[in-house]
Amino acid sequence: MTHDSAEAPELRAAHVIVVANEKGGSGKSTMSIHLTVALLKAGYRVATIDLDTRQQTLTRFFQNRASWARTAPWKVELPKHFAPERGESSNTQENETAEFATFAEAIGEVEHDYEFVVIDTPASDSYLMRLAHSLADTLISPMNDSFIDMDVLTRVHHDRGQRGLVAQYAEIVLEARRKRRLVDNGLIDWVLVRNRIATLQTNNARQVDNALRKLAVELQFRVAEGLHDRVIFRELFPLGLTAMDAIEEASHNLTPSQQSARREIATLVNDLRLPSRAEGADYLESRHVWFEAISNYYRELTAKKDD
Ligand SMILES: Nc1ncnc2c1ncn2[C@@H]1O[C@H](COP(=O)(O)OP(=O)(O)O)[C@@H](O)[C@H]1O
Ligand SMILES: [Mg+2]
Repeated sequence: MTHDSAEAPELRAAHVIVVANEKGGSGKSTMSIHLTVALLKAGYRVATIDLDTRQQTLTRFFQNRASWARTAPWKVELPKHFAPERGESSNTQENETAEFATFAEAIGEVEHDYEFVVIDTPASDSYLMRLAHSLADTLISPMNDSFIDMDVLTRVHHDRGQRGLVAQYAEIVLEARRKRRLVDNGLIDWVLVRNRIATLQTNNARQVDNALRKLAVELQFRVAEGLHDRVIFRELFPLGLTAMDAIEEASHNLTPSQQSARREIATLVNDLRLPSRAEGADYLESRHVWFEAISNYYRELTAKKDD
């Protein structure tokens, strides 16, 4: 297969997935964890970077997982994990420079040898967080099923007269996209993932869903079904395990909730439409296939917007 070299960007080998949203507690770390384990279990080489230098949720999870890996009777996969340290000086700029250096070093170390890099981010706006956005091939923004979470995206959109202005977080993404187009003609596939969906579909959830689909055309993102609110998504954290691990072998049979959790993760990974390594094919080739498919998707979405 050949590619139009005038249009296709130079793709780096590793597909970078950034999990971000300006809202704390929306499930960024939970999604980073489950996505990473799912990709590892599918046989991919995965690296992870924890940019939340304050909470370090992802780092703690993989520390727990590493101790399990030493004793567990079954396979416990681990990514190559990076935890850039928090700058401790009193000078903000010095801190940012140091954090940037370790981040850049981590990316440089894995971009050729790994197929996926999953980056978990803090909720606060920072230089590093913006930088991570502009590197994203796939940007995942988890959001709770409520208008409060949607507000980060839609604040100004309630007022039709103010269209053209976008809310702060969306502005960060649009800026990253602009930068990206300039730097390497690449694109950022922005996927909103609903999280902690209530088991009973409420009126509110349906309204959120409708509003999201309208906004998707305007801001150019996709919407994935996402995860329900389940104890299994949080209770295994201290063990460094997930619903996808062979927990049934440790003690008891799989509960219906664990089975549903596995199905939801599989559906989520599928919805993300990530590059997938076809048998015998070069991974970089599948990155190009991904690029074509996603470019087409956004081209069609733009056409809708202009209608
Ligand atoms: N789908 C879910 N079901 C149940 N609990 C969840 C789910 N997603 C997240 N949580 C819980 O919600 C809290 C916040 O999630 P977390 O992933 O830490 O968010 P963030 O990284 O965005 O701050 C954690 O206690 C986590 O265990
Ligand atoms: Mg977090």
